[in-house]
Amino acid sequence: MTLRQASPPAAPRGVDAADAGPMPTRGPLVDTFGRVHTDLRISLTDRCNLRCTYCMPAEGLDWIPSPHLLTEAELIRLMGIGVTRLGITDIRFTGGEPLLARHLEAAVAGAAMLRPRPEIALTTNGLGLARRAGALVAAGLNRINVSLDTVDRAHFAEITRRDRLPEVLAGLDAAAQAGIAPIKVNAVLDPKVSGEDIVNLLHFCLRHGFQLRVIEMMPLDADHRWNPDAGRHVEQILAAVRERFTLRHDPRPRGSAPAELWQVDAGPDTPAGEFGIIASVSRSFCESCDRTRLTADGQIRNCLFAAGESDLRGLLRSGADDEAVEQAWRAAMWTKKAGHGINDPNFIQPVRPMSAIGG
Ligand code: 5AD
Ligand code: SF4
Repeated sequence: MTLRQASPPAAPRGVDAADAGPMPTRGPLVDTFGRVHTDLRISLTDRCNLRCTYCMPAEGLDWIPSPHLLTEAELIRLMGIGVTRLGITDIRFTGGEPLLARHLEAAVAGAAMLRPRPEIALTTNGLGLARRAGALVAAGLNRINVSLDTVDRAHFAEITRRDRLPEVLAGLDAAAQAGIAPIKVNAVLDPKVSGEDIVNLLHFCLRHGFQLRVIEMMPLDADHRWNPDAGRHVEQILAAVRERFTLRHDPRPRGSAPAELWQVDAGPDTPAGEFGIIASVSRSFCESCDRTRLTADGQIRNCLFAAGESDLRGLLRSGADDEAVEQAWRAAMWTKKAGHGINDPNFIQPVRPMSAIGG
């Protein structure tokens, strides 16, 4: 066995909602399983300038109508409620592509003003980062994840349906120049991504000091092409990496961090570094999940795979006070399911694709 043994089916310290007692109205943001949610993922827009095949259809999607999008002031108010009333310690901006949101710098600056000051991160495809990395750091950005599946230009164009690899590489360079650390590179294991893609990408990341994380494809693609072989693909990729590099398993406990990590020795000519696999489907980490998600149109999702959402935008616009918004957010998280259920025979893919939820 090369990867950690599969966790038991995600039904942790389980209690039925009925046995969990009443929902706490103060203190940490908990669910009926006792999980504490401190990591807020905010999707700033559902739009994107790429069309990755594991995420969006070629023609794009019906974008969220602008009047439904949270305004900068609404967003800053919700972040404040999250941090000061609900114990959020980490805020990550995602998309779609968050660099397409003009208020990204303002949102980062707004988060950086909160006390206790949250750690602020960005997940981006890197397009346009070259121009904005400096301003983002000045606004308070701490960490960045750049989505990149291959450093082969033709293959990049095939996967993303756009020939824009050089701009992504320029964005990565600019992020390093701006002093952002660590810089992580996320590669989704689409069936089209080969062992060679990942070996070359790992070389590239080691040379530049970026940390590579490969992510098992999840059934969140708008085209519904996902199939359950994704897990086997992870094993094949790991075998290809082991043929070229010496991997030493990193014994640090994972906690709520989903990556399984290895130290990589690439020989005398390449700096050593780190490599991680996020096997969200075949080895789910639902039992230690600490994430709460806010969509660009102001809905709380308690899980990537949740069937329902809770409308905070409507509450804000109906004049609700912070206390009412706090309690609605708590209620949304309280009903979080034990796990994603992807491996259940009656699993249903959520209506929102990844680009409208945020990774
Ligand atoms: N499965 C796993 N990850 C995905 N992403 C987009 N679609 C999928 C999918 N179907 C990733 C992107 C990015 C993050 C926002 O989500 O590559 O890293
Ligand atoms: Fe855009 Fe990210 Fe989806 Fe690719 S994965 S289409 S970069 S939102």
